[in-house]
Amino acid sequence: NNNAGSSGTGGSGGGKTLTVGFAQTGSESGWRAANTQSMKDAFSDANGFKLIFNAADNKQEAQIAAVRSFINQKVDAIVIAPITVDGWDDVLKEAKDAKIPVILEDRTINVSDDSLYAAWVGDDFKKEGETAGAWAKQTATSPTNMVVLEGTTGSAPALDRATGFKAGATGAPITTLDSQTGNFTRADGKTVMEGFLQKYGNKIQMLFAQNDDMGLGALDAITAAGLTPGKDIKIVTIDATHDGLQALADGKFNYVVECNPLLGPQVADLVKKVVAGESVPKTQVATDQSFTQEQAKAALPDRKY
Ligand code: AHR
Repeated sequence: NNNAGSSGTGGSGGGKTLTVGFAQTGSESGWRAANTQSMKDAFSDANGFKLIFNAADNKQEAQIAAVRSFINQKVDAIVIAPITVDGWDDVLKEAKDAKIPVILEDRTINVSDDSLYAAWVGDDFKKEGETAGAWAKQTATSPTNMVVLEGTTGSAPALDRATGFKAGATGAPITTLDSQTGNFTRADGKTVMEGFLQKYGNKIQMLFAQNDDMGLGALDAITAAGLTPGKDIKIVTIDATHDGLQALADGKFNYVVECNPLLGPQVADLVKKVVAGESVPKTQVATDQSFTQEQAKAALPDRKY
């Protein structure tokens, strides 16, 4: 390959430098910024890597094009944070034919043949949704009207968090008034929440935002409508970024479920092993916790992202 002869002085024992293409989703959220940083730190020159980074602005076609360009550049390995679950078979077959291993980080995919990727490392989105749903059930002691801000349509976290929430909240007296995508961004979280408030006014008693950023955007809409977030509308979100935990500590959110973005070191370790032909576990799941308002106050000073 094109790296033949390149000599790394890498931190992992001085093997040859590995050229790795990383196809990131985009830069939609605080979570994503932390994930990108973690990946760039782990895939540093000092660790024996040459990282080719691409962020696809959450457009699946752009992400697939990035993967194709990595194949053309004959990289040693490809890492993908797949935007959506579907549509991966063809390009992953092309990588396989070119004998370039693919490692998935963060999001999962649906493929006909699991051998099209070597391994996946990420968080348990379904469990995150379940934890949020269990909190909602415990909180809804009387009939409660809820709205939902969904993540990117067709993405693993949007699908799995919805399924998980439903399971966690089973039997709760919760009516979902509306559920729409806010694309995991603050701007869309705000716009979609404005629409919900125009339509349902003060009927809304609970908000499930599938990530912190959409919840943070919704705060502006709620305040502008003359309502008090955390009191008039109870809010549960997922991620536990610094900004999310701050809103929780300030009493604007009511509960936050963690999704750990610091996956870089595990992914880098996997890439080295896979390229060296070692066998690796097919899936590795990060551990997540969850936070009440009091727990957020305690956790904030040491929060890394
Ligand atoms: O895939 C993880 C999700 O993607 C995070 O929860 C969200 O903030 C991000 O954009």
